[in-house]
Amino acid sequence: MDSTTTPNPFALSQAVKLISDSDLFNLRRTIVITNGKGGVGKTSVTTNLATLLAEAGYKVLIVDMDSQGNVAINLGFSDDERNNQGKALHHAVTYNEVPVPLKDIRPGLDVLTGGPFTNQLIDAIHGDTLRGGKMRGCIARALAKIANNYDLILIDTPPSDAGFVFVDEAMLAARWILAPLRPEPKSINGLYSLASRIEQVQSANPYIRLLGVILFGVPSGATRVEKRPRDILGERLGGIAPTFSAKIRNVVAADADASFRGQAAHELAADVLKQGPFWERLRSGASATPVLAGSASSLAEDYMSLATEIIDELKAQEEAFDAEAGEK
Ligand SMILES: Nc1ncnc2c1ncn2[C@@H]1O[C@H](COP(=O)(O)OP(=O)(O)OP(=O)(O)O)[C@@H](O)[C@H]1O
Ligand SMILES: [Mg+2]
Repeated sequence: MDSTTTPNPFALSQAVKLISDSDLFNLRRTIVITNGKGGVGKTSVTTNLATLLAEAGYKVLIVDMDSQGNVAINLGFSDDERNNQGKALHHAVTYNEVPVPLKDIRPGLDVLTGGPFTNQLIDAIHGDTLRGGKMRGCIARALAKIANNYDLILIDTPPSDAGFVFVDEAMLAARWILAPLRPEPKSINGLYSLASRIEQVQSANPYIRLLGVILFGVPSGATRVEKRPRDILGERLGGIAPTFSAKIRNVVAADADASFRGQAAHELAADVLKQGPFWERLRSGASATPVLAGSASSLAEDYMSLATEIIDELKAQEEAFDAEAGEK
């Protein structure tokens, strides 16, 4: 065979698109919540935004890519027999089938769960990377099959100890990134490694963009604690994306109540109101001490402001994106 007809395998691998344009288009409303660090509020932000947006009428899918399966705990279905602990996504990726999420965990909210099966998926992807990476883009290809059923898909990611290869798979499946971080230097530094990882996935997913940064676990009333990180972030982000002015305050009692009850903050806040005022409880002979943390309403307000800002930013960035695409 002469050299002009012999395909160059390297050129071929460059030419074959990892994720097709139509899949990337289908995934245009997919948001990955990540920043590499652990315990920065990724799961809390995911479940609270998803439940609020579902309540507002959006059709939402959460994809839990963390084997801790904390989405199920936050939403109160970890012990439900329907919880397949990551099996649905694992199955869809392994057999190239259409993923089947758990339907209506709340009205309008479906979930592809995480759990022990997610670990099997992580192992398979890591193993495949050593053998040449044929699976690369597998989460994107799987989610693209169902993306058109949803207005928004939110992907919760594991902390970096699960390995960057797996988190990169989540980034390959998304157009937008939300990066929650705590207002402290180590957490802010996590954003540097996120920036370099965005560059790495951009060769296969050129459309991925940072939607914004969320300050999480901000102590109430400590303006200085908040101002410094905001200034640093403003400088480092250089206008690429905002640090949302809505923040998630540190409210341990409300968070504990919400987690134990498997509720989003606004659901807990609604139950707090049902407790009735102090004098009514006293008169009815119930304990005068409230059973549920009153701070739930502050937390709920934080998430509502954040959800509003995120949707506004998403629409603005989508318009800018479309205008840019139109110019090309
Ligand atoms: N508003 C809040 N105030 C105080 N603590 C909170 C608040 N919201 C969540 N928490 C707690 O902070 C911890 C980290 O939150 P979360 O699990 O959402 O972070 P994560 O980034 O998903 O963590 P991981 O990296 O382990 O997946 C959890 O123990 C959670 O219960
Ligand atoms: Mg988490």
